[in-house]
Amino acid sequence: MRRSQLFVPGNMERMIQKSRLLGADSIILDLEDAVPAGQKEKARALVSKSVSEVEWGRRELCVRINSPSSRQGRADIARLGSLDRLDTFVIPKAEGDLSTIHRSTGKRLIPIIETAKGLSGIDLVTGSGGVDAVAYGAADFSLSVAGSVSEYLDNVYVKTKIVVAARSTGIDPIDNVFFDLKDMSGFEKSARQARALGFSGKQVVHPSQIRTANRVFSPSREELKWARKVLGAYNKSSRSGKGAIALEGALVDEVHRKLAKRMLDDSSTAD
Ligand code: GLV
Ligand code: MG
Repeated sequence: MRRSQLFVPGNMERMIQKSRLLGADSIILDLEDAVPAGQKEKARALVSKSVSEVEWGRRELCVRINSPSSRQGRADIARLGSLDRLDTFVIPKAEGDLSTIHRSTGKRLIPIIETAKGLSGIDLVTGSGGVDAVAYGAADFSLSVAGSVSEYLDNVYVKTKIVVAARSTGIDPIDNVFFDLKDMSGFEKSARQARALGFSGKQVVHPSQIRTANRVFSPSREELKWARKVLGAYNKSSRSGKGAIALEGALVDEVHRKLAKRMLDDSSTAD
């Protein structure tokens, strides 16, 4: 479950220590863009020590490495690839087939689609061995296509393409980070749009965004009430041979039964 996936700068010891106490479903210790060039080696050592020594609980623990084709990225993989507690490598600016990283380390992979080439060849990325979720990076993406971050933060074309690629191979799509830390209603709106498009969670960059993400990506009380009502009415009518009924003025048939069931299944995994 990744309703919220928190980025923590890999060179900030206090933030790393604190992150385990927060309610994020998944944590990403970042060695890429949150760490300045001169601190890469220091951060790699700190992240390596923290992965092994901090009590992370049962949540997913990830590290975002530097680009795997760079010297820093290769050093990240070599240093961290054999740490047992590390579940997943998050791969920035992912393009092409990533299977060799999974084969050489056994780690799961979460590629971030954040370049034009990554998006246009997304099936190659998501079809790589070991990939079990895919994320979106709106800032780098806007850089790659010479557009603006504000447009690409909520761009429906890009997001739909990522959701379709993910769901067609049975992996989770995770929505992008939202940079304005003071705009909580903007964050919630963005999360709601993402959930409606089919994302299963959202990456977050501040503790204040975690609770909202966890709430938005869990079924609400009203949704659960609706789901129970649909299942009850459908089961009753199908016993008497009717597959399509009107429930409070709206048509309900087999697909609505499936939607209602998915909602209840989602709520039992969120418990
Ligand atoms: C995140 O990595 C972004 O580029 O938006
Ligand atoms: Mg990026």
